[in-house]
Amino acid sequence: MNKQNKTILSGIQPSGRLHLGNYFGAIRQHLDFQHKGDAFYFIANYHSLTSVQNGGDLRQYTFDVALDYLALGMDPEKCTFFAQSDVPQVLELSWILGTLTPVSMMEKGVSYKDKVAQGLQPNIGLFTYPILQAADILIYHSDLVPVGADQKQNIEISRDLAGRFNRIYNGDYLRIPEPFIVESVATVPGVDGRKMSKSYDNTIDIFDSGKALKKKVMSVVTDSTPLEEPKDPDKCNVYALIRLFASEEKNREIRDKYSSGGFGYGHAKKELLTLIEEFFSGARDRREYLAKRPDTIWDMLRDGGKKARDRAEIVMQPVREATGVVRHFETQ
Ligand code: ADP
Ligand code: TRP
Repeated sequence: MNKQNKTILSGIQPSGRLHLGNYFGAIRQHLDFQHKGDAFYFIANYHSLTSVQNGGDLRQYTFDVALDYLALGMDPEKCTFFAQSDVPQVLELSWILGTLTPVSMMEKGVSYKDKVAQGLQPNIGLFTYPILQAADILIYHSDLVPVGADQKQNIEISRDLAGRFNRIYNGDYLRIPEPFIVESVATVPGVDGRKMSKSYDNTIDIFDSGKALKKKVMSVVTDSTPLEEPKDPDKCNVYALIRLFASEEKNREIRDKYSSGGFGYGHAKKELLTLIEEFFSGARDRREYLAKRPDTIWDMLRDGGKKARDRAEIVMQPVREATGVVRHFETQ
């Protein structure tokens, strides 16, 4: 597929500090894709309202996600980077799609069930989250949606809803998107060995540094194989993290050390600490520089929002006409 003229879209929720699971499961793919087509990336602040219900926190997380993405290499000249709330058409389309969505489709939502199991309030926003996500995707005529494996079902729902709309209103109003899922990235483990997730309070954050980073790395759980004995890297949480950062050569070297014995988990953790520090050192410097220029960040989001709104309006206008929803004002 020639991705060059494809519209690529993805979103990230501003609901806390970004961690290594977010980086390897989602952010890295977003950064790669910005050079491969017409990329739209947005900060899903309406989605975050399902879990963050404090205005100051949501504003801060929104700013932080923008800052982190820019520091990690997002280039607003190459892609359209914006906040979801700067495109009101998304809420309009979301309502319309909701009128075509069977309740049973939402009841099968795995992400809803997972989030409730993790302790989130089962509010209606959380229940209908995939409908808003479908609107996010369909409003820009997105072709490709790079996401982590956990988002597969939500993309299927978007495809289904686009098809329903087109059938019911008898036209090609909404484009059917394709997911792009990197299956090869195994779930990144947290310091306790479970899936790294802010809900489990087991994260190593991308921009953790100094003592805080060291403390977290040192707390990664391991078994009690004595230092001198050989160890299986594939059963070790520390190695599961090391392999994400290390070059092929370094990976081989560390695997050899595990299997030859005399290499303790303490040594492995030191290797991991150095690898993380080196990997994000450029991004850390850029983040420090940008953090002192908050106006630049907000201006960039505002400009991205304008571009995204213009695109959304092109898709939304025929949808309004098809549904017969009458409006006597323009959305700029
Ligand atoms: P959290 O579990 O911390 O709340 P989110 O659900 O906000 O994280 O994750 C955003 C995206 O980051 C997910 O869609 C997923 O693709 C990716 N992601 C999160 N945690 C992991 C992980 N431990 N391993 C791989 N990818 C992850
Ligand atoms: N649900 C996604 C996540 O938790 C975030 C998201 C919201 C999204 N809207 C989207 C991702 C549209 C891709 C496309 O990671």
